[in-house]
Amino acid sequence: MAKQIGILTAGGDSPGLNAAIRGVGKAAIRHFGMKVSGFRAGFRGLAENRIQQLDGSALSGILTIGGTILGTSRDKPHKMNIGGKTHDMTDAIVENYHANHLDVLVCLGGGGTQKNALRLKQKGLNIITLPKTIDNDVALTDITFGFDTALGIATESIDRLHSTAHSHHRIIVVEIMGHRAGWLALGSGIAGGADVILLPELPYDVNSVAAAIRNRVRNGKKFSIVAVAEGAMPKDFAERHAAAQKLKDNAGTKEEKKRAKKELDKLEQQHRNHTMELGMHLEELTGLEARVTILGYLQRGGIPSAADRLLATRLGSACASFIDQEVYGVMVAARGDKAEVVPLEEVAGKRRLVPLNHPWIEAARHVDTSLGD
Ligand code: F6P
Repeated sequence: MAKQIGILTAGGDSPGLNAAIRGVGKAAIRHFGMKVSGFRAGFRGLAENRIQQLDGSALSGILTIGGTILGTSRDKPHKMNIGGKTHDMTDAIVENYHANHLDVLVCLGGGGTQKNALRLKQKGLNIITLPKTIDNDVALTDITFGFDTALGIATESIDRLHSTAHSHHRIIVVEIMGHRAGWLALGSGIAGGADVILLPELPYDVNSVAAAIRNRVRNGKKFSIVAVAEGAMPKDFAERHAAAQKLKDNAGTKEEKKRAKKELDKLEQQHRNHTMELGMHLEELTGLEARVTILGYLQRGGIPSAADRLLATRLGSACASFIDQEVYGVMVAARGDKAEVVPLEEVAGKRRLVPLNHPWIEAARHVDTSLGD
């Protein structure tokens, strides 16, 4: 009997998702004689049994298309909002998995998806995942597909922002995605020649940033590019945020947890305007005009880079091969030119942040980039 594969894409969309769907699907159908179906809108589609067959024609021509042909969502199997109320849809998902006679469910997603996949593994389903996100923050894989494309978009954006910076003698502050990790800001900041790079992993001192900018002015460079990771924080704010997070993590009673979450939500709400406030603060401290650009969803859009297509295809086809060998309960990780499996228990709940001794950080410092510390 041909194996039945179900595929879903969950979490934020990212370039390379369709290349990965194609990689898994074509290898499974053409090389291993399997049958492939897709579920719409992440785990929600699986809970609602919104299934579509993925045959050769459905997989044709999608390699270069951005986003995901299946649609995605951030819904969690055990906490799904239906009609304004939160429901645990895990049993419905297990039921639909069996009703569709699936041999395995393939989940393409980031850190949150790895956690949700583990939950379904613990319910006895055969699960295998691929690491997807522009943030590059999934643990135990060298890289995630989506990162390289976003790196190119952010770098090209920084290149373009140099024009207005040097023409107007301005500080251009550009916010780069990455959630709580600094990979995208660090990589594109270096590649784009940013003068300052601010990372979540390295809370900054705005006076140190202003001093670096003033130093550039003294050396005849009356403009600066400040690349800011969206999760970057000033030192004092980072301390308050860490304390609130610790309070929430260690909260004993329900009441304590609720109070801590309220404090954390308040801080994260304040943090939303952080980059605009940084621009204004730097203008005050340096006397230079400052302008702010938030790259946002541009970094997730459009045609995947060649590197992402190659990565997504090779991980996808390796995934089909592991399914043929009935290797389940794992994430297919990129390890150099190879693909290796990692138990979901070792991946779920972990986030890969930029180590402070990472060679990219050393390279940035060596070319005189300020990291705000
Ligand atoms: O995880 C990818 C990502 O783009 C992050 O960089 C960003 O913080 C987040 O998704 C935005 O989430 P949403 O798409 O739900 O607004």
